[in-house]
Amino acid sequence: MEELKQKIEDVTNLDTLESVRVEIFGKKGILSAEFAKLKDVPPAEKKDFAKGLNDKKSALTEIFEAKKAELEKEAMNKQLESEKIDVTMYGYENKKGSLHPVMETMDKIIDYFATLNFSVETGPLVEDDFTNFEALNLPKNHPAREMQDTFFFKDGHLLRTHTSPVQIRTMLKQKPPIRMIAPGTVFRRDYDLTHTPMFHQVEGLVVGKKGEVSFANLKFILEDFLHYMFGDVDVRFRPSFFPFTEPSTEVDISCIFCEGEGCRVCSHTGWLEVLGSGVVDPNVFKAVGYEDVSGYAFGLGVERFAMLLHKIPDLRSLFEGDIRLLEQFR
Ligand code: DAH
Repeated sequence: MEELKQKIEDVTNLDTLESVRVEIFGKKGILSAEFAKLKDVPPAEKKDFAKGLNDKKSALTEIFEAKKAELEKEAMNKQLESEKIDVTMYGYENKKGSLHPVMETMDKIIDYFATLNFSVETGPLVEDDFTNFEALNLPKNHPAREMQDTFFFKDGHLLRTHTSPVQIRTMLKQKPPIRMIAPGTVFRRDYDLTHTPMFHQVEGLVVGKKGEVSFANLKFILEDFLHYMFGDVDVRFRPSFFPFTEPSTEVDISCIFCEGEGCRVCSHTGWLEVLGSGVVDPNVFKAVGYEDVSGYAFGLGVERFAMLLHKIPDLRSLFEGDIRLLEQFR
């Protein structure tokens, strides 16, 4: 008995405990063998013999269970210790995404005009000739069409070359007065340091009663807008030509790289061209059936603004999806 007790006490792990259990309590174990002897015991002694054996069995069982509990607890503690998580350890950084600089710039532009109660209009990327050209005073075979290298479809549709057609769509579905901008994607057959076949523009249009909307209004709002975008820059209006406006003007800001001194970016002129604009040509109003109105319009390239704001030298890098560039705008 003592020997068996000791055997159990000496066990130091659960595997050994299991083999000790089989050895003592198993079907072919020590206790079973002792119980088997019962049949040879004289009847008068049977009772005591059996009681002695049963007492021995429950005493050993008790020791065994205690040992088992002890070893299980030990094993559990060992496991907990080895699987412990150090919550103070540095984890993997969850990288934060960010707006693409073009979208961020677009949002900034939209914010300015939305605050002034301009509506934000959209139109389809696949346009028809009337809306993209004709209604904007660009009749077929007009040489000014060459300014915009166009992707045509076989059926005469095209990928819009500017966001100006959204002017036409908006005027066709709404009555004046109109104060709108149209941000969106445009397409041209162009690819070099400053041109990509897909880029973004924001178009603006304000229409009121005849005499109500003037070039002076245009000048005021664009100057204010450019100061909002670029801070303390000089703004210059330069006569130009667009078929859809008369008079037309291109708008320059003093070069933000050399502050007007003259550098490579501004081709040593001290000025950067950032906008096209003008007073809406009467032919445009005629095309949409507007009478006795006046208005101004403007259009700008969002990539150009983003490049100037962030001093990005190559336009194409904006569309390469290189995470090393994008990470700089988080
Ligand atoms: N649509 C012109 C372009 O893509 C930009 C533009 C110039 C829009 C003058 C206008 C405008 O509304 O008045 O080059």
